[in-house]
Amino acid sequence: MHPLAPEAVWAANALRPLRTPQDSAVLLVSWNALDAYLDALAASWNHERAVHAVAIKSQPHPAVLRHIVARGFGLEAATWEEVQLARAAGCPPERLVFDSPVKRPHEIEDCALRSPGMLVNANSLEELERLKPFADRLRLGLRINPMVEVDAPSVYQVSGDESKFGTPIAERAAILDAVRAYPIVALHVHSGSSMNDTHGAVRALTRLRDLAVEANERLAAAGTSRRITTLDVGGGLKPEYLEANGSAPQMRAYTEALRAAVPELWFDFALVTEFGQWTHFHTGYALSDVEYVLSRGDRSVAYLHLGADFLLRDAYVRPRGIAWLPLRGGQALMDAPVLTDLAGPLCFAGDYLEKGCMLPTLQEGDEMLLLGTGSNAYALWSRHTSRSIPATYGVDFAQRRLELLSERTNPFI
Ligand SMILES: Cc1ncc(COP(=O)(O)O)c(C=O)c1O
Repeated sequence: MHPLAPEAVWAANALRPLRTPQDSAVLLVSWNALDAYLDALAASWNHERAVHAVAIKSQPHPAVLRHIVARGFGLEAATWEEVQLARAAGCPPERLVFDSPVKRPHEIEDCALRSPGMLVNANSLEELERLKPFADRLRLGLRINPMVEVDAPSVYQVSGDESKFGTPIAERAAILDAVRAYPIVALHVHSGSSMNDTHGAVRALTRLRDLAVEANERLAAAGTSRRITTLDVGGGLKPEYLEANGSAPQMRAYTEALRAAVPELWFDFALVTEFGQWTHFHTGYALSDVEYVLSRGDRSVAYLHLGADFLLRDAYVRPRGIAWLPLRGGQALMDAPVLTDLAGPLCFAGDYLEKGCMLPTLQEGDEMLLLGTGSNAYALWSRHTSRSIPATYGVDFAQRRLELLSERTNPFI
């Protein structure tokens, strides 16, 4: 059984008296699951000087950001707007990382004035000149493109030669000169997202460590007391289920491989991580009415109220492994499976959540639970066909509590 299933079935039933006819779909966040993933993240790394700055872009709901910050974790902002979301969530500057590849000068100045001490990663050597005037109030990092092959799908690959992200590590001499010339204290990589195999990521961090060690030797030789003190390892792991004892086998295997290959990460450097998708994927789920079901050719086509507007990546790139749990009368539907296409509500041909799945025969009035919608779903909400963003609820299943986090909303209606 899917680990979120008992909670999601309970929440679907608890929601019934709260839903109006307009609430054709509802989004949910599991506080218990989010806590479990945050705990597993900290336990897997077990690093005394770590800031686990969860990538805001994968789940920017303000209530979720507040929860992450209240738990003592940090936030990674990819845009100026995300810096403002992080501030509104109460994130202290020392737990906030600003990684935008296209920062405006006034944004940098505002970071220095209002969030002194925050880590700002320059995307290029050229950007260092803009950051320099504010370096006494910020911690300055430099994003390095490690130029390794990772097995991330091509749209999530950022480590190729022509990537727009970071300074290619092949420009080693220029990077080492820049570390001397500018007050850089951190080096950063993010090799790609949805990686299956972490060998490439380990190789990237081995290269980053070598670079940091060489840069520090040069700073020492030049009689400078400043050092590269922090390695920011980015995010990029694909989602995984936690074991019954709360441990995360994939994340643990990654950190164990790193402990073997890059032990200095634990002894000589402070650590920043930026896991988005891994942290959130299994902490969110959604509920949609099945509006009706048609028979087409050899299959059933079930029409849901969440589609490519919510699950943009699944519809446009490929299904990411969201699990479907149909309900009838509040109970999981167990009938024999038939070939089913899950159609979204948008008026365009590509709007399918998944085609050709085997599901019990659905009918009008059923409900569908979508399990594993915590990352890159609400965050990517698309305005295509102008549907409203559904109401979002937080669920504390341990306490059997449900709270409205945000109303159904549509900015122009
Ligand atoms: C700089 C940076 N850090 C962290 C992330 C989060 O990646 P993921 O959600 O795959 O962990 C991204 C994703 O695009 C990124 O660009």
